[in-house]
Amino acid sequence: MKLKQTLLPLVIAGLVTACIGGKRTTPSEESSSLKAAFGNKFLIGAALNQRQVSGEDTAAIAIAKHHFNSIVAENCMKCEVIHPEENRYNLTPADSLVDFGEENGMAVIGHCLIWHSQLAPWFCVDSAGKNVSPEVLKQRMKEHISTIVGRYKGRIHGWDVVNEAIMEDGSYRKTKFYEILGKEYIPYAFQCAHEADPEAELYYNDYGMNVPGRRDSVAALVRSLKEKGIRIDAVGMQGHMGMDYPTVEDFEKSLLAFAATGAKVMITEWDMSALPTVSHTANISDTAAYWKALNPYPETLPDSVSRIWNARMKSFFDLFLKHADVITRVTAWGISDGDSWKNDFPMRGRREYPLLFDRNYQPKPFVRELLQTP
Ligand code: XIL
Repeated sequence: MKLKQTLLPLVIAGLVTACIGGKRTTPSEESSSLKAAFGNKFLIGAALNQRQVSGEDTAAIAIAKHHFNSIVAENCMKCEVIHPEENRYNLTPADSLVDFGEENGMAVIGHCLIWHSQLAPWFCVDSAGKNVSPEVLKQRMKEHISTIVGRYKGRIHGWDVVNEAIMEDGSYRKTKFYEILGKEYIPYAFQCAHEADPEAELYYNDYGMNVPGRRDSVAALVRSLKEKGIRIDAVGMQGHMGMDYPTVEDFEKSLLAFAATGAKVMITEWDMSALPTVSHTANISDTAAYWKALNPYPETLPDSVSRIWNARMKSFFDLFLKHADVITRVTAWGISDGDSWKNDFPMRGRREYPLLFDRNYQPKPFVRELLQTP
């Protein structure tokens, strides 16, 4: 109900954009966009980087405007960027992102408030480098969250409040937040965010959600937040996938486990590596042959691999459609392959092919199939 209400202004904005300014979108143009084809099922989002928000990457911006009705900041709202020093905020890039989303009638997602990674180095320690007291950390968290959430109050559709707090075995990640405050840092962060913008949706976001230990623990976390009367609207399943993980079945089990808590589900950072999975134990500096094995397509992706990749992406998208009653957003982690973080993760300098649009900004075959465009 709530979703339908929040989507309505976006749908109206889309119709207005299609009809005003002398430009009337033809039916075929309309059906060839992801948001026109699937916007009645869930929000269709993409993460944007700074070159895109600033308008430099015009090809990506054209895709963002045409296909997506939601955006999220790839980096500019992370603590190390937006709050690099205790008494200094760097809000200009985030301001531009929010302006861009608003100008284009998009649901803007805030990513992310509390995360151990890309955390400003000062945040959990004193000037001597020692952990601050629980009281000081709580005070810093409150100040950080209320400043950022408060600044964009009423303009951000929802926030990733806590990111990646649970390990595969279901235990809490031993971050500084956990070390100093224990598990209570999570409800506290949600509470601070809710106080700063009572209307904003609030999410818990994590990767590798198909793994049973993490699945159970995240579901338990959501239940415990709800029991405490703390607002949590959705679980964000990041959806960084590979050619051999996860299985559609395991992913679906987690999706259903999260939905069973009463929360909605979002696919928040969707991409799929087309390259061999890098084993954590591999010694990658061994030989040139080893590098070649891990970076096997330095020119283009062979058709044989592309076919498998596209079929896998399509089967996951079909799964999202199957569960459109609980999925409220599907967001790709970037626009085109050339800009994907996967080119440098988990190894630097590989040529990756993980996104919905290729390096020439053309839709991949499974996207064309979804849109029924040749
Ligand atoms: C990644 C960005 O895409 C990169 O540009 C950055 O260098 C590192 O972070 N999980 C998350 C995202 O929640 O914020 C990460 O984004 C990818 C993994």
